Amino acid sequence: MQSITIRRPDDWHLHLRDGAMLEGVIADSSRDFARAIIMPNLVPPVVTTEDAEAYRGRIMAALPKGDRFEPLMTLYLTEHTDPDDVEKGKESGLITAVKLYPAGATTNSHGGVRDIDKAMPVLERMARIGLPLCVHGEVTTSDVDIFDREAVFIETVLDPLRKRLPELKVTMEHVTTKDGIDYIKSAERNLAGSITTHHLIINRNAILVGGIRPHYYCLPVAKREHHRVALRQAATSGDARFFLGTDSAPHVDPLKECGCGCAGIYTSINTMSCLAHVFEQDNALDRLEAFASLNGPAWYGLPINEERITLVKRAEPVSFPVKIETGAGPVTVFDPMFPLHWDVER
Ligand code: DOR
Ligand code: ZN
Repeated sequence: MQSITIRRPDDWHLHLRDGAMLEGVIADSSRDFARAIIMPNLVPPVVTTEDAEAYRGRIMAALPKGDRFEPLMTLYLTEHTDPDDVEKGKESGLITAVKLYPAGATTNSHGGVRDIDKAMPVLERMARIGLPLCVHGEVTTSDVDIFDREAVFIETVLDPLRKRLPELKVTMEHVTTKDGIDYIKSAERNLAGSITTHHLIINRNAILVGGIRPHYYCLPVAKREHHRVALRQAATSGDARFFLGTDSAPHVDPLKECGCGCAGIYTSINTMSCLAHVFEQDNALDRLEAFASLNGPAWYGLPINEERITLVKRAEPVSFPVKIETGAGPVTVFDPMFPLHWDVER
């Protein structure tokens, strides 16, 4: 039997939702992860420090007794975000980052930013105080093909923003293209990228071949195979600019299996098994710890976790539920389409 022991991992991009869904999913994150950056795209979104404090309280209340898990809170950037409130949130230790959703880019992003000029005062303040900006890197204009939206965002929004504010620390979240990987590698400083579990495993065929498969639909949408290969190389290279952000995003099945299904893939429960498989396949198990447990805290200026987890490779496949049942309804679990043999030892 093979096994590998690594520092306890963190998830640098997670959707926990609220209410019954939060209660139904949180244990799947707190089981394997020490901390997670919590996305603020609730309805209504988490826009002020006060909202974030209240949301953090609800997360802590939903946490299974005895689990140690630290939610790292973010604010949802709007054109009206108050720079003083953001600074107060950082100073108090509550706020780890601010999230930029271009308006209309994804789930609950209609309150996001349309005109980046209007958000400049807060972005300038963040650059000054060293608070990272997490970016959903897609343009939303209807004339840009959905498979090109990340590359066009880099060229027309992100690069100009970084030139205007070189001191701003930017996390390009859920990178899905070789263009994104190359752009991050080309930056000298103040730019890093998170990569999801599923984008290391699927390309766009998973969504469209043999029928439309809504449980592989997420945003940014999975791209062509050569993009997936570039993501795999970046993640397994050990390069400190790349780290895990699962973007695990639960939606109940009726909202995905319908005429206009929601974007989001639920991976919290089996991410570590999937990652061990991917890293082993690429002969990079010795770099799994960098990707899942070391590079993220270094980027965010946080201590690495002292606790360890052990992954063991079992002869028989490890079984995960096809769906989890939550108080909000059933949520389908990501199916990597290969048997998983790696398991986190409990
Ligand atoms: O697939 C996604 N789901 N991408 C996002 O950016 C948002 C997320 C969600 O909140 O459902
Ligand atoms: Zn997300």
